Amino acid sequence: MDDSLYEDIAVSRPRPGVTLIAINRPAARNALRTATLGEIAAELDRTAIDESVGAVVITGSEKYFAAGADLKEMAALGPIEMLSDVRPKHWKRITAFPKPLLAAVNGYALGAGCELAMHADIIIAGMNAVFGQPEIKLGIIPGAGGTQRLVRAVGKSQTMKMVLTGESIDARVALAAGLAAELVASEDTVKRAIEIAESIASMAPLAVRAAKESVLLAFELGLTAALESERKSFVLLAASSDRQEGIAAFLEKRAPEYRGR
Ligand code: CAA
Repeated sequence: MDDSLYEDIAVSRPRPGVTLIAINRPAARNALRTATLGEIAAELDRTAIDESVGAVVITGSEKYFAAGADLKEMAALGPIEMLSDVRPKHWKRITAFPKPLLAAVNGYALGAGCELAMHADIIIAGMNAVFGQPEIKLGIIPGAGGTQRLVRAVGKSQTMKMVLTGESIDARVALAAGLAAELVASEDTVKRAIEIAESIASMAPLAVRAAKESVLLAFELGLTAALESERKSFVLLAASSDRQEGIAAFLEKRAPEYRGR
């Protein structure tokens, strides 16, 4: 895969249908400078229209998922520069990625690093994972959705504790709180996330897209409106040939061959 365009991330295709994005700024503990976020957003934009990819895994290194926004870069920004900051646009592109995004988290996922993990649809945590929103210690607050996504993931009390004290939680607490879907040995984190991504990539793409959209609506709409939307998507999928194929394959006791149509 050609990732020569990128400086801060490495992109690979470890399994059919799966793209792996690895953040690679070891000297800065994988801090997400603006260019890093831009590269992640660009790769997701590219992947969104690539029919050969069904799911994406984002990861960091063995000890650092991402240490947050780049504080050296941030220190140079005043309110005027922040008004025209391109970072919120990059975050919106990451949020809008329509295919399943998994985060394989080993080590520190702090500040914007934790926020990036929470942009993923599924978090797989290694035993050494640490999640935190330490911004309060810097005289600021989370600025990329940390207060909102965390409270939706782990509830008010744990969120308040993390956001108001800056204290991190370890992988076991993250699993118990529902932030992570699975906890695995640190050396297996990426492998396990890729395995799940490959399984998702083998499903009917239109159904996968509708499923992600529908689940995420729980954060945007009330129950009645969200249920109506779910039903509409369910009905719409009846028009897909993959639905016919999926049911026929089950009845004929064979593996389905989905085409995304
Ligand atoms: N930005 C820029 N550089 C960073 C960085 C960051 N977020 N985190 C670490 N680095 C750099 C350090 O400055 C240091 O650079 P030098 O070698 O040039 O001095 C290098 O990485 C190594 O750092 P440490 O010696 O601290 O490494 P460590 O392994 O002992 O500790 C760590 C790792 C626990 C992640 C620690 O570096 C740390 O606490 N980092 C800051 C975490 C943080 O506060 N993140 C929140 C940022 S604000 C934010 O993200 C806002 C938002 O919501 C949008």
